[in-house]
Parts: sequence; C-alpha cells; structure tokens
Amino acid sequence: MSSFLTPPSAPQVHVWQWDLEACDDDIEGYWNTLGAQERERAGKFRFDLHRRRFIAGRGELRRLLGHYLDVSPSDVAIGYGPDGKPYCTSQPRDWMLCFNLSHSENTAALAIANGIEIGIDIERIRVIEDTLPLDVFSSQERADYAATPQAEQQTVFFESWARKEACLKALGTGFILPPTHFEFDVSVHGDTTPRVVGGDVQEAAHWRVRTLSSVAGCAGAVAARRTDLSIVEMGALCLHPG
Ligand SMILES: CC(C)(COP(=O)(O)OP(=O)(O)OC[C@H]1O[C@@H](n2cnc3c(N)ncnc32)[C@H](O)[C@@H]1OP(=O)(O)O)[C@@H](O)C(=O)NCCC(=O)NCCS
Repeated sequence: MSSFLTPPSAPQVHVWQWDLEACDDDIEGYWNTLGAQERERAGKFRFDLHRRRFIAGRGELRRLLGHYLDVSPSDVAIGYGPDGKPYCTSQPRDWMLCFNLSHSENTAALAIANGIEIGIDIERIRVIEDTLPLDVFSSQERADYAATPQAEQQTVFFESWARKEACLKALGTGFILPPTHFEFDVSVHGDTTPRVVGGDVQEAAHWRVRTLSSVAGCAGAVAARRTDLSIVEMGALCLHPG
C-alpha cells in the first residue's frame, strides 16, 4: 500500500476489513498510536481478548485514516458527536473525510466516504438458542419474518439487523432511536431501500443500503441518505502497524 490513499470519489464508499486478533508486536505498535482517551477505554475491558480487539480496532482505524489524511496514526484527531459517533476533527482541505467502524467478534470493517455521512454494521451470523429479540422488527416486518422459511430466518434476522444498525449509525444516533425507525421489506436480499423512515415513506426513498458480500460469516451493510451510493470493497488487510 502506498503511504497516501486516494479519497473515494463521491458517491463511492471504500470498505476495509481486518482481523482483530493481532499478535503481541502488532498490539504494541497499535497501542503506541492511541490517544489518552482510547488508552483509558482499553484499560476498562474486563477480558484481555476484548481489550486487544479494541486496541487492534482503533489502531488500524488510525493507521488507515492516517494514510488517507497523510498524517501519522497518532496525529489523527478524533472527536465525538452528541451520541458518540466518532469523526475526524481535522479535515483535509479539498475533501471531507467521513468514516464509520464496526466490529463483530474478531472482525472489523471500516467505511470511508467523501462528504457522505455513512453507517456500517457487520454482524456475525450465529445461532441464537432461545428467542431472537424480535422487537427490532415493526409489526409488518415481524409478519413478513414469520412467513420466511425457517431455514432462512437466521440469515434474514442478521441481515435485517445489520441494515437497521447501519442506518442508525449513519444518522449518528445509534439505538437512541428504536430499530423500528427504519423499516424494510425483509423478503428482499441484498441491496435495498427502506420502506419507511420514522413513519415517512418519502424520506425512505432518499436512503440506500448496500450489502457487504465479502465479510466471511457475517451479514454486513453500509447505509447513507444518498440514492447513488456505491461500495468499493478494498479487501481484507494483513498489514502490520510498525
Ligand atoms: C452506535 C452503536 C449502535 C454501536 O453498537 P456496537 O454493538 O458497538 O456496534 P458496532 O461494532 O457496529 O459499532 C461500534 C463502533 O461504532 C462507532 N460508533 C459509536 N457510537 C456511534 C454512533 N452514535 N453512531 C455511529 N457510530 C458510532 C464507534 O467507532 C464504535 O467502535 P469503537 O468505539 O471501537 O471505535 C451503539 O453503541 C449505540 O446504539 N449507541 C447509542 C448511543 C449511545 O449510547 N451513546 C452513549 C455515548 S454518548
């Protein structure tokens, strides 16, 4: 990879993914790039596994942002929106870097855009033994989900979850708004548009959700209030922070 990454040309979104289970040397390299607030957060994890994954997430985030901004990872200045959405406080002169990070178990995915508020979510498709939290669905979605063949329900559930969370992360609210704020046709697989946003059908028409196909074992989605949104999957990283 060159030391400088060309910014995506709107409406493209670059999507990177990487494994959060890094070796000790890499963890140390990432740690050296983190800010005081990030180190404090890292110190609060009860389990070493989760602490290391957090460090590998923030460390690689800083490293990649640094390549786009042409600054060192430790010089990437990160601020937080009112509901905690991270953003770059220092913007390049000729483009506006927007990003969003997601992780599920050992996998991280990062979306980078130019002037588009984006949200990304990945969800490891896993067995949920007892009851799925079906209150993520509106009554219409729940009825459609119940009509889905049982063999598909698990995938449909996590696909729907990823879409909704990606949209809420694009807004920057996360689950301060209920997951039912964005309602989808759950019978549609792949790229889609919400049916209703906050009860408004016209608002829904402005949104697009693109499916991530390359994150193994995960449902993944990138969302934005932009109809021509497109994804460029930049691939899996196997790079070292040093
Ligand atoms: C945003 C939210 C959905 C993420 O949930 P999650 O299960 O951790 O999901 P993901 O792994 O996909 O996303 C985590 C990443 O999203 C980003 N993020 C955090 N808050 C965000 C927000 N409000 N909007 C968009 N992205 C956000 C962060 O980069 C975070 O990872 P990091 O802290 O390791 O850098 C969840 O934290 C939420 O609903 N927050 C609501 C707002 C809130 O509680 N705010 C309190 C702090 S002010």
